[in-house]
Amino acid sequence: MTSHPTPASPPAGHPTSHPTSAWPGRPAGHGPVLEVRELTRTYGAGAGGVAALSGVCAAFHRGTFTAVMGPSGSGKSTFLTCAAGLEPPTSGRVVIDGADITDWDEDSRTRLRRERIGFVFQSFHLMPYLSAAQNVGLPLRLAGRRPKPDRVRGLLERVGLGERAGHLPAAMSGGQRQRVAIARALVTDPAVILADEPTGALDTTTASSVLDLLRACVDELGQTVVMVTHDPVAAAYADRVLFLVDGRVAGSMSRPTAAAVAGQLARLDEWVA
Ligand SMILES: Nc1ncnc2c1ncn2[C@@H]1O[C@H](COP(=O)(O)OP(=O)(O)O)[C@@H](O)[C@H]1O
Ligand SMILES: [Mg+2]
Repeated sequence: MTSHPTPASPPAGHPTSHPTSAWPGRPAGHGPVLEVRELTRTYGAGAGGVAALSGVCAAFHRGTFTAVMGPSGSGKSTFLTCAAGLEPPTSGRVVIDGADITDWDEDSRTRLRRERIGFVFQSFHLMPYLSAAQNVGLPLRLAGRRPKPDRVRGLLERVGLGERAGHLPAAMSGGQRQRVAIARALVTDPAVILADEPTGALDTTTASSVLDLLRACVDELGQTVVMVTHDPVAAAYADRVLFLVDGRVAGSMSRPTAAAVAGQLARLDEWVA
């Protein structure tokens, strides 16, 4: 496993429960780049309504890597969707870079997403008819800015694809496509990178190189990564794991190990069963 600096306490793989859903913060003076407060999201109304999120509080600080885990249906994707401003929550607040975006109109939230949030998806979501370099530059174009060739080339080199700038996604492996997607997520120098199962479609070896790259984005570029995963090995690359159960924060774990995460997930499944 990679070695990386992490807070001194609590001990490795130590689960802590948060009855108030409070999230242990980094030292004062570094405001979170992403914070959700009492986030609630309900689908449908009345007896048939589903509470996908129920009062989730969490803060994510610059230069940290957090994994979000939980059983299927626990609200992980809804959490990312609301945190990204893709959908307004039913109640609660979303604060990005100190700005409370909860009540922003759709245009403003779209602009914020393009400029301040990087996305990485399980299925890459690259434009098939654009080269690797054009895909990386796309968020800047959508934001009305002209991508600087040096910037795009530098990012492709950073993710190990300096030689592949002109290739179409179809001519690349899954791991290479995900590297392009990570370079694309970095191009606007976002406040936070949100990743939903980024290694879900990759074999184990390729997955570990993509996770090493996400880890390097945090350690070397000072980026902030929030990654949904169901894989304890992937979660062990993070500084911290946030566990969701039934739309609530069921605890967190600092300096996770794969074994400790797997054990905690098994306990969460027992609660749900
Ligand atoms: N668009 C939707 N309409 C109705 N129910 C939804 C919708 N999206 C999610 N849900 C429900 O909300 C809950 C949480 O879903 P989701 O966030 O996708 O969980 P996870 O990603 O952890 O599997 C589930 O019960 C799911 O069925
Ligand atoms: Mg999901």
